[in-house]
Amino acid sequence: MAKRKDDDVVGEEHYEPLQPPAGFAETARANDKSLFQEAEKDRLAFWAGMAENLQWSDKWERVLDDDNPPYYKWFVNGKLNVSENCLDVHIENGLGNKKALIFEGEEGDSVSLTYSELLTEVCKFSNAMDKLGVKKGDAVTIWMPMIPEAIVAMLACTRIGAVHSVVFGGFSPDALKDRILDSESKLVVTADGANRRGKVIPMRSAAEEALEECPSVEKVVIVNRTGSSYEPKKGRDLLWSDLMADAETDFAPVTIDAEDPLFILYSSGTTGKPKGILHSTGGYLVGVHTTFRYVFDHHEDDIYWCTADIGWITGHSYIVYGPLSNGSSSFIYEGTPDYPARDRFWELIEKYKISVFYTAPTAIRSFMRWGNQYPNKRDLSSLRLLGSVGEPINPEAWLWYYENIGKSNCPIVDTWWQTETGMIMITPLPGVTPLKPGSASWTFPGVEADVVDDRGKSTKSGQRGFLVIKSPWPAMLRTLHGDPERFENTYWQQYPGMYFTGDGAWKDQDGYFWIMGRVDDVLNVSGHRIGTMEVESALVDHDSTAEAAVIGKVHEIKGHSITAFVTLKEGYEGSEELAQELKAHVGKKIGAIARPEEIYFTYELPKTRSGKIMRRLLRDIAEQRDLGDVTTLMDPQVVAAIKEGYTGK
Ligand code: PRX
Repeated sequence: MAKRKDDDVVGEEHYEPLQPPAGFAETARANDKSLFQEAEKDRLAFWAGMAENLQWSDKWERVLDDDNPPYYKWFVNGKLNVSENCLDVHIENGLGNKKALIFEGEEGDSVSLTYSELLTEVCKFSNAMDKLGVKKGDAVTIWMPMIPEAIVAMLACTRIGAVHSVVFGGFSPDALKDRILDSESKLVVTADGANRRGKVIPMRSAAEEALEECPSVEKVVIVNRTGSSYEPKKGRDLLWSDLMADAETDFAPVTIDAEDPLFILYSSGTTGKPKGILHSTGGYLVGVHTTFRYVFDHHEDDIYWCTADIGWITGHSYIVYGPLSNGSSSFIYEGTPDYPARDRFWELIEKYKISVFYTAPTAIRSFMRWGNQYPNKRDLSSLRLLGSVGEPINPEAWLWYYENIGKSNCPIVDTWWQTETGMIMITPLPGVTPLKPGSASWTFPGVEADVVDDRGKSTKSGQRGFLVIKSPWPAMLRTLHGDPERFENTYWQQYPGMYFTGDGAWKDQDGYFWIMGRVDDVLNVSGHRIGTMEVESALVDHDSTAEAAVIGKVHEIKGHSITAFVTLKEGYEGSEELAQELKAHVGKKIGAIARPEEIYFTYELPKTRSGKIMRRLLRDIAEQRDLGDVTTLMDPQVVAAIKEGYTGK
């Protein structure tokens, strides 16, 4: 049991650091500070050493090209293939019969693929795509449920050198369309539908109109998962099963330059338009391979489960590329933690003897609220290491996770990183770092982060500031697809020479990082990033809406919940029905995750005299805080009017 310390640091909860459990460090990949020392001595030599763990067909000539910042290049002129490193290499090393993917569907159907079997599937789909004319550098959009075919499609793209753009299956067809158009994908891989809490959610039929509006799309490949009906379009739509039935089982991996693009992943930013974050091949694979190995302490016999969806960066880096490049067994689950019952995850841990479990604070807070009776029913003794990602984890949830899931026997790695960073950046090393509940602890070896004030000066310990990365790292994003200017402005302009993360943080006297969350107009709802502007654009897209302001209200489980303040056009009146309609409209434009929980109608939004919406005030209203001075507002009455109408449901 962790002990509370009395000398609180800047008002945060603070606990006596927990040492790695007895026995853990002995067998851990890292159990002393040598990796840190090595990286500190020569950062580039450290990363070059880590790159040696991968198979390259041509060795790089230079580890880092920093001649033209912020356009950094890693492992210059090195050549490799990602799928070869994730598959062929292990088979050559005698792991062909080891399970690569273990899948369980929502209804309990189960399938596993060994490394040899997965390679065959990947080669078959590579051949199928090749026949359809997909070439190195072409973009392929993958919009699928959490099924093995999605991973086969991703790996097949990497075998050919095609650039995948995985769109989260829960995004709406409209959001899918925007992302296909932006990436100019030739091929879309999707499914007839997805299973979700006992229901079938149609995918292909729902995307009918969206696909029609995407001129770049030549072919659509459909996996039949649910038996959901749709009208196939002749000459364009093809069945996965037909293509695979005829496909050859060998496909030589295409040689790819380290700096060739590997994938685009869209993520929310501070404008209405999502950013196409572009990752390249060599540096990304070195980054995720190395962090997976040491953060999750890769052991040959681990059964590793990351509960993310492949539609997010966590799924890319730590379901697919990190685990498979290490030859791990990666478990994937199609469904949610509460269907058919609230012990579903614990049942799966018991059944598959999961040893490493990586999930999000939102989920942990839900588990905590549901109660200990669910995990207590199951045998969780196979677990040896736990992880957390996506948002700050409050010490209370951390301790609950530690005591009730890990039985005070498993270290927790609270991993801070972003879609842009590609790899884990701030994290404990489980056999080395004394843990402080609520802190992501130290930078990973070879990563240089800091907390700075608004002039870019390092803050003193205990002083809040902005989290920056002070030197390039291998898995860093290379640019924003089609928008280098936005890339430069968003990340590199704030503090010259440093990458601006958009997060607030502070460091304690022991050098531990404490992350406080976003400082920009990006919300973190259940660990998913949603731009306030994106939701506002979706709201004003509705006929009734003149203007909208969206804020994140602190939410016990989700971190933030979305609250929208809306002014209507002449002739419209606020009502419960209209609120429902607007919520549904946002669901249609973006996806269910972006639906506002609350909508308030107001005759005007609080604005400064220069016309800037004061979101801070709206947050204060929503969270029922004292508002202080509002006299600088253009219309001071408006706050009272909103407060009156605000019931804070
Ligand atoms: O605010 C930080 C939060 O999630 C943001 C990145 O979101 P995304 O690109 O969607 O990637 C999520 C999965 C890597 C960050 O800017 N965040 C992520 N992990 C943590 C976190 N905040 C605190 N602690 C974490 N461990």
